[in-house]
Amino acid sequence: MNIGILVDILMYIVMVLQMLYVFIGNIPHEILGIAFFCLLVAHIIIKRKWVKAIFKRSVNRSKLATFNNCLMILILIIALVLALSSMGVSRTIFPWFNFLPSPALHKYLATSLLTLSVIHGGMKLYRKSVNKKKAVIIIVILAILALVLGLAAVPYINRHFRTVEINYDENVNGEKTISNDKLLTVYFTRLGNTDFEEDVDAVSGASLLKADGVLMGNTELMAHMLNSISGCDIVPITLTGEKYPSSYTDTVVVASKEIKENARPEIEDIDISGYDTIILVYPLWWGTIPMPVATFLENNDFTGKTIYLLATQGSAGFGSTVEDVAALAKGANVVKGLSIYCDDIPYVRDQLEEWMKSLR
Ligand SMILES: Cc1cc2nc3c(=O)[nH]c(=O)nc-3n(C[C@H](O)[C@H](O)[C@H](O)COP(=O)(O)O)c2cc1C
Repeated sequence: MNIGILVDILMYIVMVLQMLYVFIGNIPHEILGIAFFCLLVAHIIIKRKWVKAIFKRSVNRSKLATFNNCLMILILIIALVLALSSMGVSRTIFPWFNFLPSPALHKYLATSLLTLSVIHGGMKLYRKSVNKKKAVIIIVILAILALVLGLAAVPYINRHFRTVEINYDENVNGEKTISNDKLLTVYFTRLGNTDFEEDVDAVSGASLLKADGVLMGNTELMAHMLNSISGCDIVPITLTGEKYPSSYTDTVVVASKEIKENARPEIEDIDISGYDTIILVYPLWWGTIPMPVATFLENNDFTGKTIYLLATQGSAGFGSTVEDVAALAKGANVVKGLSIYCDDIPYVRDQLEEWMKSLR
């Protein structure tokens, strides 16, 4: 087999494996990322004549050649930015480079690169094929599949089928570096508020993780980290009435209904009187706070208190939560804190510590 074709095939295999990072784990993902960029350099060296031709001036260039050239330039730019973003989200190989707060951009770039590379590879098929219409249909189908894989299938698999296993001692415990008796962390997590069956593994999803084999919610783990860093009291928001369904998808539907109805599910009382600072840790639900968090905010008087917001999410940002909390928490000074991507939560202790130090 020609070395050029071998490199091309390897590149496609690595790209698809990279997209399935939820199955291969972080360290292989980072190593394969480096392998991919070595293959890309090899690909450019092998195709150097073509690459040079892109930048040559030519008056007689066909529309197809111009399209292909633009495509290749775009692929090169995206690959470069993707390489930078890979270092930006790296936790193991380039941890000192970790400058991107959320991997969302990295994911969109990777999906774009795969999609454009499929079109780029398809151009060969188009040129050689007799039936051009059929070739275009095949290319469009493959490009749509690449988009669906990156934008829908992988996030779906991630949320529904992945249980993250961590070591509590390594990920949560550490030196207590901050002291504040008047600090309370209040968190809401799906885990303690869900009607799980006994065989909880059968319904596990991305918002579930296991610390030393014990199931925990994402926000719960963050609350434990805050406690380990500062010794602050932590308290969950707990429903007193009906719990959320065990199925992730059903919970999404119920949450949507609650938000539309501006519902206030009943919760256990939380006494905030002895604290002047509250860290509120919550997951983004439909871009806003879960409605039990709204109940907590409306049930209490926050006059003279500061609420720091710590959001967790499956995409990026705070959604409308900063405004939503400010509108509900009477008398509070609401301050935007950090928004942590759900996959990053097990590794976020150092970032939380830095952030807590910056509050003093
Ligand atoms: C009902 C529901 C709605 C969600 N809506 C969003 C959303 O709008 N945007 C987002 O980025 N993540 C969304 N997510 C993902 C969660 O914010 C994320 O998985 C979070 O880390 C879960 O935290 P927990 O395990 O403490 O409940 C949603 C999750 C659920 C269950």
